[in-house]
Amino acid sequence: MTITITPLSTRFGAEISGLDITRPLDLATNAKIRAAQDRWGVTVWRDTGLTDASHVAFSRLFGLVELAPRHQGKPPRFSEPELFDASNIDADGHIIDNAMRRLINAGNRLWHIDSSYMNVRSAQSLLLCHAAPPVPAPTLFADTRSAYDDLPQAMKARIEGLTARHCYFYSRMKAGYPTSEEELDRMPHAQQPLVMEHRASGRRALYLGNHARDIVGMTREDGRALIDELNTWTTQDRYVIEVDYSTGDMSIWDNLCTMHRAGDFDDTAYARDMRRTTIREAGVAAAEDHFTTMFAASKRVAEG
Ligand code: OGA
Ligand code: MN
Repeated sequence: MTITITPLSTRFGAEISGLDITRPLDLATNAKIRAAQDRWGVTVWRDTGLTDASHVAFSRLFGLVELAPRHQGKPPRFSEPELFDASNIDADGHIIDNAMRRLINAGNRLWHIDSSYMNVRSAQSLLLCHAAPPVPAPTLFADTRSAYDDLPQAMKARIEGLTARHCYFYSRMKAGYPTSEEELDRMPHAQQPLVMEHRASGRRALYLGNHARDIVGMTREDGRALIDELNTWTTQDRYVIEVDYSTGDMSIWDNLCTMHRAGDFDDTAYARDMRRTTIREAGVAAAEDHFTTMFAASKRVAEG
């Protein structure tokens, strides 16, 4: 099998074809896939034929596959504990009509980086489409390496060494979820550098998105103005690609050199079944089930 790599834009994103990824691949092919991912930041795979089990198995070529958070009282839709549910349907396949859960999902329509609110970052996310609506419902991706490269020198100097505080429920609050700054203050936060060394490519990348709440050492107002300015810069059309899905299609993005958001569609009218695996950044230790721990801690705050 020969791997075919078709760029989706000059600097960023590529579609990969020619491989049957439902079966184990040889080491040389795995290395080519990782190299393509490191080079292009986003890869798109059409009509993969992957199941839940082979989705998880394929994901392992990138590293440690995270466990998805388990939420008390909410049975997961899948038997694989590694699958994050990025759909708008419940365990019976019905479109979610619970207003609070819809508001939580709405946060995915804001530009973000998966897991930036965790101290241990995620590298790749692998999002597989199990059912696509009959209307466009893409994911949008932004190239945080090129966005960094193109910054004016004065801005590069200004942000060098800065640290942001990220909080999951901050993006949810921005999307309309009812919570307050005071409540957020008591929730878990992660500190992340604004400028990321993307070790896999030797390039640098911005690391922000809408989980980024404050900048350490700056007033809330000044920090947010800077975060907004850089998020707006990064998501200009020239850094963005859009990927739409049919059933079986998968996108893989590297959270350490991209931002993404779900595109807009009528999620009260159409089911969209998307399942995700997530790879932990290489070489970092964390409790195995750290997402469940983080969400449980946030819930305790919310419940007082
Ligand atoms: C995600 C996500 C976007 C989408 O699964 O992390 O942001 O298009 N998904 O569903
Ligand atoms: Mn996401």
